[in-house]
Amino acid sequence: MTIQTIGVVGAGMMGSEIALVFALADKKVRLMDTDQGFVDKAMAKLAKTLDSGIGRGFYAEEDKPRVLANITTATDVKAYGDCDMVIEAVTEDQELKGRIYKELDAVLKPDAIIASNTSSISISVLASYFSEARQKNFLGLHFFSPASRMKLVEVISGFDSDPEVVKIATAACADIGKSPIQVKDVVGFAVNRILFAMWDEAIRLVEEGACTPEDIDTGCKLGLGHPVGPFELMDNITIDLTLKVSQILEDAYGDRMHTRPTIKQLHAAGRLGRRYGRGWYKYQDGKRVE
Ligand SMILES: NC(=O)c1ccc[n+]([C@@H]2O[C@H](COP(=O)([O-])OP(=O)(O)OC[C@H]3O[C@@H](n4cnc5c(N)ncnc54)[C@H](O)[C@@H]3O)[C@@H](O)[C@H]2O)c1
Repeated sequence: MTIQTIGVVGAGMMGSEIALVFALADKKVRLMDTDQGFVDKAMAKLAKTLDSGIGRGFYAEEDKPRVLANITTATDVKAYGDCDMVIEAVTEDQELKGRIYKELDAVLKPDAIIASNTSSISISVLASYFSEARQKNFLGLHFFSPASRMKLVEVISGFDSDPEVVKIATAACADIGKSPIQVKDVVGFAVNRILFAMWDEAIRLVEEGACTPEDIDTGCKLGLGHPVGPFELMDNITIDLTLKVSQILEDAYGDRMHTRPTIKQLHAAGRLGRRYGRGWYKYQDGKRVE
């Protein structure tokens, strides 16, 4: 089986970019969110992403109409009956994802592959929302932000993921130019476990008054070759998601992965990151001002 038609559920930061990478590879993509306004906004943002990439040589001028024409939009998963694979990228909330899986269960063709882009929820736990017959077709495909640029996809096998399904999904990622790696369904998977351990030290340095966030971001970029510093990245993915993942890691690994008090304070103060105007840094119209 080759994957030609992809359904993406959730047209937020990740879902819209995941739709883009499949559309760039000439797959037929259906992008869905709860409201037509959300999907229209996502399409407008993708057009801008393509424009800025054309300016920098990432895409050719003629790619834009072809890529956008490969994406159709929907506000209901009922439109997903012909999809070979569905990737769920809705808000990181287990109950919400579970409700969507029950809807998908009722409309998808029997051999459709279903993947979650969850950052932190167990794939084996999420699989339990599907009927037993579908659980073997479910796995994790963890893309990284921005998905149009980041090559890595963690392919996560749950308890019951069929190895053949994992093989097909892995090939689908390679087919669109990604570099998939295999990870078992351990909490935090591989990359976030490493990332959050590093963030813990970075935040401790700020809490101790040893460094500013800005100096640590500069240190990681210029000293370690990271494309973006830890505090910039936390603001980009949102402090809300940082807190959620951190708490899930703490539940699983105890003191080895303690949620830092400053993350809880930023969250309680509503300083949720770049798209909210304030996080570790201040922003205006999404651009850093301080
Ligand atoms: N932000 C990151 O850097 C990142 C990286 C890797 C994985 N993830 C994971 O990707 C997923 C999405 O994260 P995001 O950052 O794109 O979030 P986001 O808030 O930008 O987007 C979530 C989207 O889901 C939509 N949604 C909510 N309920 C829905 C429903 N019932 N049906 C359809 N759409 C619905 C929302 O309207 C929103 O557009 C999460 O599971 C997150 O853990 C995020």
